[in-house]
Amino acid sequence: MRILVTASSKHGSTDEVADAIAERLGAGGHEVDRIAPEDVESVDAYGAVVVGSAVYILQWIPQAHDFMDRFAEQLEGMPVWAFSVGMNGVPKHAPQDPTRIGPLLTRVEANDVRSFAGRYDPEVLTLRERSVARLAGVVEGDFRDWDAIGAWADSIVEELAAHE
Ligand SMILES: Cc1cc2nc3c(=O)[nH]c(=O)nc-3n(C[C@H](O)[C@H](O)[C@H](O)COP(=O)(O)O)c2cc1C
Repeated sequence: MRILVTASSKHGSTDEVADAIAERLGAGGHEVDRIAPEDVESVDAYGAVVVGSAVYILQWIPQAHDFMDRFAEQLEGMPVWAFSVGMNGVPKHAPQDPTRIGPLLTRVEANDVRSFAGRYDPEVLTLRERSVARLAGVVEGDFRDWDAIGAWADSIVEELAAHE
């Protein structure tokens, strides 16, 4: 099956998560297109879509929002998986509020919606981002769980196979 994997990232950690998911879907025998949401012109060619975004101040990045708006109608009739990358699940703090992201997905019935812990590296951030992150209690470090990310991608492969 041809699958679109599209994700919005500001500082790269979400892009790397999307890359890992795409690689795993490819290993599962699917043909995968890895395209940024703003560069997707049509979803007609795809049998399934995996869409994700980093979470900034409780929200998906505008380009990912825009993707959901532009293709809401088509996505409604397709198998869709969604993921967020944020500091949700990081022990010290859980600033991500999934109910804020939820409404974005209410128009589209996603097969699964998953939050993965991300990476916070103050060195790559602007001064403003650093102070917002400090206020939000975001913890420094790379918390991405590659096994969990790979397992989630494998579950997509399994679910697609079950319906084929
Ligand atoms: C300014 C700022 C605000 C953030 N706000 C949130 C938030 O509201 N919820 C959350 O779960 N994570 C939040 N994070 C953590 C990011 O989502 C996390 O660092 C993520 O891995 C960044 O993805 P990216 O590297 O793809 O841009 C914030 C990080 C920064 C720097």
